[in-house]
Amino acid sequence: MKILGIESSHDDTSIALVEDYKVVFNLKISQTELHKKFGGTVPELASREHVNNFTHLLHEIKDDIKDIDYIAYTKSPGLVGALQLGEIFAHSLSLSLNKPILPINHLQGHISSVLLYENKDKKPSPIMYPCISLLVSGGHTILYKQDHPDDDTIIGQTQDDAIGEVFDKVARSLNLGFPGGPIIDNIFKKNESQNNIYTLTTPNTSGEFDFSFSGLKTQVINIVNKQKNIDQKFQDDLSTSFQKISIDYLIQKTKLAIEKFKPKTIILSGGVSSNSYLREKFLTLHENAKIPKLKFSTDNGAMIASRAFVELESKK
Ligand code: KG4
Ligand code: ZN
Repeated sequence: MKILGIESSHDDTSIALVEDYKVVFNLKISQTELHKKFGGTVPELASREHVNNFTHLLHEIKDDIKDIDYIAYTKSPGLVGALQLGEIFAHSLSLSLNKPILPINHLQGHISSVLLYENKDKKPSPIMYPCISLLVSGGHTILYKQDHPDDDTIIGQTQDDAIGEVFDKVARSLNLGFPGGPIIDNIFKKNESQNNIYTLTTPNTSGEFDFSFSGLKTQVINIVNKQKNIDQKFQDDLSTSFQKISIDYLIQKTKLAIEKFKPKTIILSGGVSSNSYLREKFLTLHENAKIPKLKFSTDNGAMIASRAFVELESKK
């Protein structure tokens, strides 16, 4: 079975063709360059760009989509205008190709991205339940407990900022550029041995599995504001200390959830799952820890198709 996956919830326009979790193609046009100068995504500009990008991608794929079985698209959550464009595009394709349409939740798409593989890869094993999922992106920081594919009980989530958003804000305060996550991660990789130069305090929340990042963000910004000369050594040391404490905090909460719920699978997903230190640590937490391939960690159409396969299978 072949499913076309369409993603446009934020600043990436992506269309993918997936055959039983194997990615045939995953095309993506990123708007990062456009939004860089504003230090974050500008919703109005994102919508305008999605229109151009969908038109462009459609010309590229038009000969490869005649024998698809379903069209899956991101229904929510995301930027309203960007989502609506994806929805209209998906419905138009559905009518013109006479294929059924499946609305997909973006966050469930991220979780299902661990099932995707490519030609040269081994097919990932299925998800076994109960499963604990850590979803970390620019807009979300959530711990889920899933007892079956259609269940996503939130056991903990951020009480304020999302982890990706804080990576972006910390990078901005240090004049490092946008998006901050990959920039800080690259600095960390080179500077890891220096990771405790700045003593930052691990956040505290009343909910056992909840997160809080705004206090940590403020700690970093206060240190930046007191610094007279923001030179490279300062940028490197502070961003490395920040990555260490924030990722250790995610790992510590996931560990608690594993001890309590004894899952058969644990899953890491969302844009921040690209983080090298988080990936390394997460894999040591459980014998059946699943993380997406790097190219499927950030927003993409293949993950939307992947979730569509999960939903169709669970209805069998
Ligand atoms: O899931 P995603 O592509 O878009 C949203 O739905 O939010 O996640 C984007 C977020 C951004 O905040 C970006 O800075 C962060 O993921 N990110 C990272 C890394 N790569 C991307 N954060 C930490 N380390 C990374 N290597
Ligand atoms: Zn996302």
